[in-house]
Amino acid sequence: MNQALPPARRPGHAADPMFPARWSPRAFADRTVSAEDIMVLLEAARFAPSASNHQPWRFVWSLRGDPGFAAIRDALVPFNADWAGKAAALIVVATKSTVTTKDGAEAPNHYAAFDAGAAWMSLALQAQVSGLVAHAMAGFDHAALALAVALPEGHALHAVVAVGHLGKVETLPEGLRARETPSPRLLLADLAVRGRF
Ligand SMILES: Cc1cc2nc3c(=O)[nH]c(=O)nc-3n(C[C@H](O)[C@H](O)[C@H](O)COP(=O)(O)O)c2cc1C
Repeated sequence: MNQALPPARRPGHAADPMFPARWSPRAFADRTVSAEDIMVLLEAARFAPSASNHQPWRFVWSLRGDPGFAAIRDALVPFNADWAGKAAALIVVATKSTVTTKDGAEAPNHYAAFDAGAAWMSLALQAQVSGLVAHAMAGFDHAALALAVALPEGHALHAVVAVGHLGKVETLPEGLRARETPSPRLLLADLAVRGRF
């Protein structure tokens, strides 16, 4: 666990504690991660389920200090670049937008984004198991990020994930400190019904 969970983060039913314990911090320790650490996260993502097992997810990653890291960071909106630039690694989550049909044509994969979400969550939970933290961001400039990672034609960008070791809240600018805590959730009764909406 990264820290004691606030009451709003305690499950009402017996879900494994790993789920409510995962959260998205913005304070990263000034520590590196290795390429192998990232491989472990990506390996977890690789085993996510996907529609017809198409595995549409694609990842581009860089460690802080790599030229690619600065390129990805600079494509983030300034709010995200400020804190995520201190992460140990940045991982871009993209998908191949089409599948190849039996007659060799390319048809849209309508489930690619859904599958990318499953892969990101696997990565995030593996980060937690590995003693790391992961924070997804959709706040980036699509054209700039596409350029930064040389996104191939027929691919879509979904998120950039900041990865590293949890840092101290005091390292964040004043305005972000109060937000540096696991966030609450809607009640299960407001999300799920038995039978019909
Ligand atoms: C697809 C996606 C996009 C997000 N974009 C951003 C972002 O641009 N900046 C940011 O600070 N957090 C971002 N977040 C983090 C969410 O705000 C966070 O996951 C949510 O508030 C729930 O908190 P938790 O992850 O700590 O449980 C994003 C999360 C997801 C899954």
